[in-house]
Amino acid sequence: MARADLTIKGGWIVRPEGTFRAGLAIRDGKIAVMAEDDALPPAEQVIDASGKVVMAGLIDPHVHAREPGLTEREDWRTVTMAAAAGGVTTIFDMPNCIPPVNTVDAFTLKRQAAEAKAVVDFGLIAGAGITHIGHIPALAAAGAVAFKTFLHEPYPDRMVEFGGLYATDNGTLMELFAAVARTGRVQCVHAEDNAIVEHATEKLMKAGRRDPLAHCESRPVIAEVEAVAQTVLLAAHTGVRLHLVHVTTGSAAELVETFRARGIRNVTMETCPQYLVLNEETMTRVGPYARMSPPLRPEAERAKLLARFKAGTIDVLGTDHGPHTAAAKERGRDDIFQAPAGAQGLETSLPVMLTLAARGEFDLPFLTRVASQTAARLFGLYPRKGAIAVGSDADLVIVDPHREHTIDRRRFYTKERDAAHVFDGWKATGAPVMTLVRGTVVMRDGEVVGTPGTGRMVTPERVAPAPPEVIR
Ligand code: DOR
Ligand code: ZN
Repeated sequence: MARADLTIKGGWIVRPEGTFRAGLAIRDGKIAVMAEDDALPPAEQVIDASGKVVMAGLIDPHVHAREPGLTEREDWRTVTMAAAAGGVTTIFDMPNCIPPVNTVDAFTLKRQAAEAKAVVDFGLIAGAGITHIGHIPALAAAGAVAFKTFLHEPYPDRMVEFGGLYATDNGTLMELFAAVARTGRVQCVHAEDNAIVEHATEKLMKAGRRDPLAHCESRPVIAEVEAVAQTVLLAAHTGVRLHLVHVTTGSAAELVETFRARGIRNVTMETCPQYLVLNEETMTRVGPYARMSPPLRPEAERAKLLARFKAGTIDVLGTDHGPHTAAAKERGRDDIFQAPAGAQGLETSLPVMLTLAARGEFDLPFLTRVASQTAARLFGLYPRKGAIAVGSDADLVIVDPHREHTIDRRRFYTKERDAAHVFDGWKATGAPVMTLVRGTVVMRDGEVVGTPGTGRMVTPERVAPAPPEVIR
């Protein structure tokens, strides 16, 4: 049998349909053989995965890499090193940066920055906003993995970064959806109703509220639920493949279940570890560092969200890794509205989810489906990405599911580790010990060893036809 570049022996393979003992042989960056260890071909390099599990590398469809333009927060080298450290082998980058990615020129600039520095693979999500509807077909042709629209207006001090990436009225939104539907790409939406958020924020500010919980109250549960309702109806009407990013409330997840029961099939949902395990209490404790939009929720909504997640209602896991500098976060120490919203998540997602698995909330096959396989399917990358199968890219994470450790931001690769307080000090069970991207080891025992500039852009292979209109 032809020699392999690398074999992985002794481990347990986790796939959505189950966990089983097998070894893998990798050749030219792809999985060439999956068989009993003794049946594998000889290889240049043998990795011993005894006592460990081997999963498809995580695909994180919600990351803010920040470069170009905002490299004081993060850049392509640091964000992909954080990904490698966290067992994440493909990230999708969000379009809010400077310049915002709503033209092919901006897309190309970002692609070049990423190709020069990335350690893991990446997809680029382009903006679909009020001022750039006409650019949507060209952005799809340039390889945008999806489109993203914010429903809320930019934060006053972040106008440039979010310019042309939002739609605050349903007329525009409907037009955007129709344009994205014609490309066959996924339409990601940040669903928080602008009018409710503005109204609530103004009231709280007038009342003199500046404490951390005022942020949560300024973006109440209903702002998400109501925005989800409107957005799903418009998606059903236009046939766009809607993907609701960072769903934070069990109530919104239940509403989508209701719509699905009515036959609306073109809607999927993402949530993030912080919304599954943390609630408003963390906001009180960590203050500006936990300011994120949407905010951490009351305990009842968190519990209901986790229940819907476990029931399989939520399709994919992302992180909304959205770094800011510690200095910028500190501006919100006495006035929460002065802290920029966003927090890091790439290095904590897998340990947090493994901890939930260790507690028996769900099993590892379930985890690999939501953290890897479904994103690959949904965005047209499957089975090249998101699968442990012969012929798939050898994007893998080897996990020690039993390792007890305390999350320590000082060990992070994200640029502003001093701002990464949300899970700092959290007691975890389970950790990634090795990450491979297309057969190359990029993280070993917590140390990132990948070479910047080796990450490649992914783009959908198959563009599915838009589903038919459901509501007319
Ligand atoms: O908290 C957030 N931060 N929510 C967003 O929607 C944007 C993100 C960022 O870019 O900082
Ligand atoms: Zn985001």
